[in-house]
Amino acid sequence: MEEVPEIAKWTWKIIKERRAIRDFIKDKPVPDDYLYRIIEAACQAPSPENYQPWRFIIIKDKEMLRFIRDKAIGACIRMFGVKVPRTEAIKRFWYMVEGEEDVFSKFYRIETSLHVMANGWRMCYYYDAPVMIAVVVDTTNLGEHGWYRMPTTGEWPIGSKQLDLTFVQAGLAVQNMWLMAHALGLGMCVHNFETEEAQDETEIAERLGIPYPRWRIAVLASIGWPARPRILGPKRYTPEQVTFSERFGNPYKFEKKPTW
Ligand SMILES: Cc1cc2nc3c(=O)[nH]c(=O)nc-3n(C[C@H](O)[C@H](O)[C@H](O)COP(=O)(O)O)c2cc1C
Repeated sequence: MEEVPEIAKWTWKIIKERRAIRDFIKDKPVPDDYLYRIIEAACQAPSPENYQPWRFIIIKDKEMLRFIRDKAIGACIRMFGVKVPRTEAIKRFWYMVEGEEDVFSKFYRIETSLHVMANGWRMCYYYDAPVMIAVVVDTTNLGEHGWYRMPTTGEWPIGSKQLDLTFVQAGLAVQNMWLMAHALGLGMCVHNFETEEAQDETEIAERLGIPYPRWRIAVLASIGWPARPRILGPKRYTPEQVTFSERFGNPYKFEKKPTW
Protein backbone atom coordinates (compact mmCIF):
# COMPACT_ATOMS: atom_id res chain seq x y z
CA MET A 1 0.00 0.00 0.00
CA GLU A 2 1.30 3.44 -0.90
CA GLU A 3 2.46 5.57 2.02
CA VAL A 4 0.57 8.87 2.27
CA PRO A 5 3.12 11.72 2.33
CA GLU A 6 3.31 13.58 5.65
CA ILE A 7 2.84 16.86 3.83
CA ALA A 8 -0.54 15.67 2.55
CA LYS A 9 -1.64 15.02 6.12
CA TRP A 10 -0.47 18.49 7.19
CA THR A 11 -2.14 20.11 4.21
CA TRP A 12 -5.41 18.37 5.03
CA LYS A 13 -5.12 19.43 8.69
CA ILE A 14 -4.64 23.08 7.72
CA ILE A 15 -7.55 22.98 5.27
CA LYS A 16 -9.87 21.20 7.68
CA GLU A 17 -9.11 23.30 10.74
CA ARG A 18 -9.17 26.73 9.07
CA ARG A 19 -12.11 28.70 10.38
CA ALA A 20 -13.81 32.03 10.03
CA ILE A 21 -12.52 33.81 13.14
CA ARG A 22 -14.71 36.64 14.39
CA ASP A 23 -13.34 37.21 17.87
CA PHE A 24 -9.90 38.76 18.18
CA ILE A 25 -7.53 39.82 20.95
CA LYS A 26 -8.04 43.56 20.70
CA ASP A 27 -5.11 45.55 19.35
CA LYS A 28 -2.52 42.74 19.52
CA PRO A 29 -0.52 43.58 16.39
CA VAL A 30 0.30 41.17 13.61
CA PRO A 31 4.03 41.28 12.79
CA ASP A 32 4.86 42.51 9.32
CA ASP A 33 6.79 39.39 8.36
CA TYR A 34 3.58 37.40 8.97
CA LEU A 35 1.62 39.85 6.82
CA TYR A 36 4.31 39.63 4.18
CA ARG A 37 4.01 35.84 4.02
CA ILE A 38 0.22 36.02 3.90
CA ILE A 39 0.32 38.39 0.92
CA GLU A 40 3.09 36.32 -0.64
CA ALA A 41 0.83 33.26 -0.31
CA ALA A 42 -1.91 35.20 -2.11
CA CYS A 43 0.54 36.13 -4.87
CA GLN A 44 1.29 32.44 -5.42
CA ALA A 45 -2.30 31.85 -6.56
CA PRO A 46 -2.75 30.82 -10.17
CA SER A 47 -4.32 33.14 -12.75
CA PRO A 48 -4.94 32.84 -16.50
CA GLU A 49 -1.73 33.66 -18.38
CA ASN A 50 -0.35 34.61 -14.96
CA TYR A 51 -2.25 37.86 -15.17
CA GLN A 52 -2.31 38.39 -11.36
CA PRO A 53 -5.21 40.87 -11.28
CA TRP A 54 -4.99 41.37 -7.50
CA ARG A 55 -3.73 44.20 -5.34
CA PHE A 56 -3.87 44.38 -1.55
CA ILE A 57 -4.42 47.33 0.73
CA ILE A 58 -3.32 46.79 4.32
CA ILE A 59 -5.53 48.85 6.62
CA LYS A 60 -4.52 49.45 10.24
CA ASP A 61 -5.89 52.96 10.73
CA LYS A 62 -8.57 52.75 13.41
CA GLU A 63 -10.66 55.52 11.88
CA MET A 64 -10.80 53.63 8.59
CA LEU A 65 -11.58 50.37 10.38
CA ARG A 66 -14.39 52.11 12.22
CA PHE A 67 -15.75 53.53 8.96
CA ILE A 68 -15.81 50.09 7.32
CA ARG A 69 -17.22 48.42 10.44
CA ASP A 70 -20.06 50.93 10.59
CA LYS A 71 -20.90 50.26 6.95
CA ALA A 72 -21.11 46.52 7.75
CA ILE A 73 -23.21 47.10 10.86
CA GLY A 74 -25.58 49.31 8.86
CA ALA A 75 -25.96 46.73 6.08
CA CYS A 76 -26.41 43.93 8.61
CA ILE A 77 -29.18 45.81 10.42
CA ARG A 78 -30.88 46.68 7.13
CA MET A 79 -30.73 43.06 6.05
CA PHE A 80 -31.41 41.05 9.21
CA GLY A 81 -33.03 43.66 11.39
CA VAL A 82 -35.39 44.91 8.71
CA LYS A 83 -35.56 43.09 5.36
CA VAL A 84 -35.18 39.38 6.07
CA PRO A 85 -38.13 37.82 7.91
CA ARG A 86 -37.27 36.19 11.23
CA THR A 87 -38.34 32.73 10.02
CA GLU A 88 -35.95 32.97 7.07
CA ALA A 89 -33.14 34.30 9.25
CA ILE A 90 -33.51 31.36 11.64
CA LYS A 91 -33.03 28.98 8.72
CA ARG A 92 -30.07 30.92 7.40
CA PHE A 93 -28.20 31.09 10.71
CA TRP A 94 -27.98 27.36 11.31
CA TYR A 95 -24.29 27.58 10.43
CA MET A 96 -23.55 30.02 13.22
CA VAL A 97 -24.85 27.77 15.96
CA GLU A 98 -23.36 24.61 14.56
CA GLY A 99 -19.99 26.20 14.00
CA GLU A 100 -19.36 27.04 17.65
CA GLU A 101 -17.95 24.35 19.85
CA ASP A 102 -16.51 26.04 22.93
CA VAL A 103 -17.57 27.79 26.11
CA PHE A 104 -19.11 30.60 24.11
CA SER A 105 -21.45 28.14 22.40
CA LYS A 106 -23.17 27.27 25.68
CA PHE A 107 -25.18 30.44 25.34
CA TYR A 108 -24.68 30.91 21.63
CA ARG A 109 -28.00 29.64 20.40
CA ILE A 110 -30.14 30.62 17.44
CA GLU A 111 -31.75 33.44 19.44
CA THR A 112 -28.33 34.91 20.13
CA SER A 113 -27.38 34.57 16.47
CA LEU A 114 -30.53 36.38 15.42
CA HIS A 115 -29.95 39.10 17.95
CA VAL A 116 -26.31 39.76 17.11
CA MET A 117 -27.06 39.87 13.39
CA ALA A 118 -30.24 41.96 13.64
CA ASN A 119 -28.45 44.64 15.65
CA GLY A 120 -25.19 44.30 13.70
CA TRP A 121 -23.13 43.45 16.80
CA ARG A 122 -21.56 40.38 15.14
CA MET A 123 -19.71 42.71 12.76
CA CYS A 124 -17.85 44.50 15.60
CA TYR A 125 -14.82 42.31 14.99
CA TYR A 126 -13.95 44.41 11.94
CA TYR A 127 -12.70 47.04 14.36
CA ASP A 128 -11.23 44.74 17.03
CA ALA A 129 -8.88 42.97 14.61
CA PRO A 130 -5.66 44.96 14.23
CA VAL A 131 -5.48 44.54 10.45
CA MET A 132 -7.87 44.49 7.55
CA ILE A 133 -6.80 43.66 4.03
CA ALA A 134 -8.76 44.86 1.02
CA VAL A 135 -8.39 42.48 -1.90
CA VAL A 136 -8.79 44.64 -4.98
CA VAL A 137 -9.05 43.33 -8.54
CA ASP A 138 -8.70 44.77 -12.02
CA THR A 139 -12.06 44.05 -13.62
CA THR A 140 -11.09 45.13 -17.12
CA ASN A 141 -8.20 42.74 -17.72
CA LEU A 142 -6.54 45.59 -19.58
CA GLY A 143 -3.19 45.07 -17.89
CA GLU A 144 -0.56 47.57 -16.83
CA HIS A 145 -0.25 49.22 -20.23
CA GLY A 146 -3.86 49.16 -21.24
CA TRP A 147 -3.42 46.76 -24.16
CA TYR A 148 -3.89 43.40 -22.58
CA ARG A 149 -7.23 41.71 -22.80
CA MET A 150 -7.84 38.27 -21.41
CA PRO A 151 -8.34 36.18 -24.54
CA THR A 152 -11.45 34.13 -24.89
CA THR A 153 -12.69 32.04 -27.76
CA GLY A 154 -16.20 31.94 -26.35
CA GLU A 155 -19.13 34.08 -27.27
CA TRP A 156 -19.03 35.99 -24.03
CA PRO A 157 -19.38 39.72 -24.35
CA ILE A 158 -16.29 41.48 -23.01
CA GLY A 159 -16.58 42.02 -19.32
CA SER A 160 -18.90 39.16 -18.41
CA LYS A 161 -17.05 35.83 -18.48
CA GLN A 162 -13.80 37.68 -17.91
CA LEU A 163 -15.34 39.44 -14.95
CA ASP A 164 -16.38 36.11 -13.43
CA LEU A 165 -12.86 34.81 -13.97
CA THR A 166 -11.38 37.86 -12.27
CA PHE A 167 -13.31 37.10 -9.13
CA VAL A 168 -12.39 33.41 -9.34
CA GLN A 169 -8.75 34.51 -9.25
CA ALA A 170 -9.39 36.73 -6.27
CA GLY A 171 -10.99 33.77 -4.51
CA LEU A 172 -7.96 31.58 -5.11
CA ALA A 173 -5.68 34.29 -3.71
CA VAL A 174 -7.90 34.82 -0.68
CA GLN A 175 -8.00 31.14 0.17
CA ASN A 176 -4.19 31.01 0.08
CA MET A 177 -4.14 33.94 2.51
CA TRP A 178 -6.66 32.27 4.79
CA LEU A 179 -4.75 28.99 4.96
CA MET A 180 -1.43 30.76 5.51
CA ALA A 181 -2.90 32.93 8.28
CA HIS A 182 -4.33 29.85 9.97
CA ALA A 183 -1.03 27.98 9.70
CA LEU A 184 0.65 30.94 11.44
CA GLY A 185 -1.81 30.72 14.34
CA LEU A 186 -3.65 33.83 13.22
CA GLY A 187 -7.38 34.16 12.75
CA MET A 188 -8.97 35.57 9.64
CA CYS A 189 -12.45 36.23 8.40
CA VAL A 190 -13.47 37.30 4.93
CA HIS A 191 -16.47 39.59 4.83
CA ASN A 192 -18.74 41.34 2.38
CA PHE A 193 -21.53 43.08 4.28
CA GLU A 194 -19.78 46.43 3.97
CA THR A 195 -19.68 46.26 0.17
CA GLU A 196 -23.00 44.56 -0.42
CA GLU A 197 -24.67 47.82 -1.37
CA ALA A 198 -23.15 49.70 -4.33
CA GLN A 199 -23.16 53.01 -2.47
CA ASP A 200 -21.14 51.52 0.39
CA GLU A 201 -18.62 49.90 -1.95
CA THR A 202 -18.19 53.21 -3.78
CA GLU A 203 -17.62 55.14 -0.56
CA ILE A 204 -15.14 52.62 0.82
CA ALA A 205 -13.31 52.48 -2.53
CA GLU A 206 -13.11 56.26 -2.59
CA ARG A 207 -11.71 56.45 0.94
CA LEU A 208 -9.13 53.81 0.07
CA GLY A 209 -8.13 55.66 -3.12
CA ILE A 210 -9.13 52.75 -5.34
CA PRO A 211 -9.58 53.75 -9.03
CA TYR A 212 -13.15 52.52 -8.93
CA PRO A 213 -14.96 51.00 -10.83
CA ARG A 214 -12.12 49.67 -12.99
CA TRP A 215 -10.60 48.30 -9.80
CA ARG A 216 -13.12 46.72 -7.48
CA ILE A 217 -13.06 45.36 -3.98
CA ALA A 218 -13.42 41.58 -4.24
CA VAL A 219 -13.56 41.13 -0.46
CA LEU A 220 -12.12 42.57 2.71
CA ALA A 221 -10.56 40.34 5.34
CA SER A 222 -9.92 40.92 9.04
CA ILE A 223 -6.77 39.37 10.49
CA GLY A 224 -5.58 39.13 14.08
CA TRP A 225 -4.96 36.80 16.99
CA PRO A 226 -7.97 34.63 17.85
CA ALA A 227 -9.51 35.43 21.24
CA ARG A 228 -10.39 31.76 21.68
CA PRO A 229 -9.65 28.58 19.78
CA ARG A 230 -12.10 27.55 17.08
CA ILE A 231 -11.50 24.43 15.07
CA LEU A 232 -14.89 22.86 14.39
CA GLY A 233 -16.86 24.61 11.71
CA PRO A 234 -20.36 24.29 10.39
CA LYS A 235 -20.98 20.98 8.70
CA ARG A 236 -20.00 20.57 5.06
CA TYR A 237 -21.42 18.47 2.29
CA THR A 238 -19.54 15.21 1.87
CA PRO A 239 -17.91 14.37 -1.48
CA GLU A 240 -20.67 11.78 -2.01
CA GLN A 241 -23.27 14.53 -1.79
CA VAL A 242 -21.68 16.83 -4.32
CA THR A 243 -19.88 14.62 -6.82
CA PHE A 244 -21.41 13.26 -10.00
CA SER A 245 -20.30 10.66 -12.46
CA GLU A 246 -20.24 11.70 -16.11
CA ARG A 247 -23.53 13.62 -15.92
CA PHE A 248 -24.96 16.15 -13.51
CA GLY A 249 -27.07 14.43 -10.89
CA ASN A 250 -25.64 10.95 -11.42
CA PRO A 251 -23.91 10.01 -8.11
CA TYR A 252 -20.22 9.12 -8.27
CA LYS A 253 -19.39 6.01 -6.23
CA PHE A 254 -16.00 6.33 -4.55
CA GLU A 255 -14.37 2.90 -4.38
CA LYS A 256 -12.13 3.91 -1.53
CA LYS A 257 -11.97 6.61 1.12
CA PRO A 258 -8.95 7.98 2.98
CA THR A 259 -8.32 6.56 6.43
CA TRP A 260 -6.17 9.53 7.52
C1 LIG B 1 -16.98 35.42 0.09
C2 LIG B 1 -17.28 35.26 1.57
C3 LIG B 1 -18.02 36.24 2.21
C4 LIG B 1 -18.26 36.16 3.58
N1 LIG B 1 -18.92 37.18 4.20
C5 LIG B 1 -18.96 37.21 5.55
C6 LIG B 1 -19.45 38.38 6.21
O1 LIG B 1 -19.87 39.37 5.59
N2 LIG B 1 -19.43 38.39 7.57
C7 LIG B 1 -18.96 37.34 8.29
O2 LIG B 1 -18.92 37.43 9.52
N3 LIG B 1 -18.50 36.19 7.69
C8 LIG B 1 -18.48 36.12 6.34
N4 LIG B 1 -17.96 34.99 5.70
C9 LIG B 1 -17.52 33.81 6.48
C10 LIG B 1 -18.49 32.61 6.31
O3 LIG B 1 -19.68 32.83 7.03
C11 LIG B 1 -17.81 31.33 6.82
O4 LIG B 1 -16.62 31.15 6.09
C12 LIG B 1 -18.72 30.10 6.63
O5 LIG B 1 -19.84 30.19 7.50
C13 LIG B 1 -18.01 28.78 6.93
O6 LIG B 1 -17.44 28.81 8.22
P1 LIG B 1 -15.88 28.50 8.42
O7 LIG B 1 -15.13 29.44 7.53
O8 LIG B 1 -15.59 28.73 9.88
O9 LIG B 1 -15.66 27.08 8.03
C14 LIG B 1 -17.76 35.04 4.34
C15 LIG B 1 -17.04 34.04 3.66
C16 LIG B 1 -16.80 34.14 2.30
C17 LIG B 1 -15.98 33.07 1.62
